[in-house]
Amino acid sequence: MSATAPSARAPRILSGMQPTSDSLHLGNYLGALLNWVQLQDEFDAYYFVADLHALTVPTDPAVLRHRTRVTAAQFIAGGVDPLRSAVFCQSHVTEHAELGWVMNCLTAEGEARRMTQFKDKVAKGHNANVGLLTYPMLMAADILMYDAVYVPVGEDQRQHLEITRDLAERFNTRYAADTLVVPQPYILKGSAKIMDLTDPNAKMSGSTSPDKGLILLSDPDARIAKKIRSAVTDTEAEVRFDPETKAGISNLLVIHSALSGTPIPELEARFAGQGYGVFKNEVAAVVVEAVTPFRTRMSELLDDPAELDRLIAMGADRAREVAQATMARVRAAVGLLPAARL
Ligand code: AMP
Ligand code: TRP
Repeated sequence: MSATAPSARAPRILSGMQPTSDSLHLGNYLGALLNWVQLQDEFDAYYFVADLHALTVPTDPAVLRHRTRVTAAQFIAGGVDPLRSAVFCQSHVTEHAELGWVMNCLTAEGEARRMTQFKDKVAKGHNANVGLLTYPMLMAADILMYDAVYVPVGEDQRQHLEITRDLAERFNTRYAADTLVVPQPYILKGSAKIMDLTDPNAKMSGSTSPDKGLILLSDPDARIAKKIRSAVTDTEAEVRFDPETKAGISNLLVIHSALSGTPIPELEARFAGQGYGVFKNEVAAVVVEAVTPFRTRMSELLDDPAELDRLIAMGADRAREVAQATMARVRAAVGLLPAARL
């Protein structure tokens, strides 16, 4: 872990993940977390566990608390350096909820109802609460609080970034120019999209994939190897990248290449004529090799919750400093009476 202080001049970026499962999976790792780790070199990065957002889906309180610690531990185990980047828990910086309220008051009801993620959830029969409706306004608050210039997220979050930009511009027009920084979208296009091992045409997803389709970063070695050996492929025997007709093998090639750094054409050449068994065994070995140090670091962090809590408290302290300055500007701009000091 490097002890380099974050450069005060580096532009700020921010991203978050919800603590909605017992472990992140390989898709979260390759699709998001690895990018976060790389971006720390260039930016003053703020990475948080979106526990307030997770409340939109009723969860047992002890489970939510556990998942929040696990998610923070996994950010760090994956390479986010808590001494360089602020790693924190959304609810520890109470300004998020406060700015979220201001964002709610800038949003038209119909505008919130038109967000696709809300419509999808309602269409799927979720018993939606008002928190789910105003989820994007809280997300806008998360982002605008830190004057973030970029927000590295997956394609599924594009609409939420667009409304964040709209709300920032609306705030600045209605109240005071340049109070909030309008963020640039930073959609992680180049990053790997990892598919479900049992259904390689569907995204690997903590909420919809079956256990056998998911590689959890907490899975023991034998389980990882078994899941990869049973991954759905096709009836040919050729290791070739073709996501259209060979989605399963292509997914395994993407996983191998992302973790080993070996270009896909080189893998195709190396496994020519060898059959799927040999290939799958090597993919399993590559995943196990990558996940083992991750799991060790995660266990160390979870075995010492006091130290983990200290690291995220440090992150919250740093985040709060920025958040308080933003809220002072916002309160003054909207006309909230400053409380007198007694
Ligand atoms: P989620 O688990 O859907 O809340 O996603 C958390 C982060 O991981 C987001 O930035 C997603 O874009 C990313 N992510 C989730 N599933 C995958 C996947 N199968 N492949 C690549 N990235 C993913
Ligand atoms: N909505 C994001 C997701 O589900 C999580 C999130 C909440 C977030 N607030 C954020 C991501 C702010 C980036 C910035 O993945």
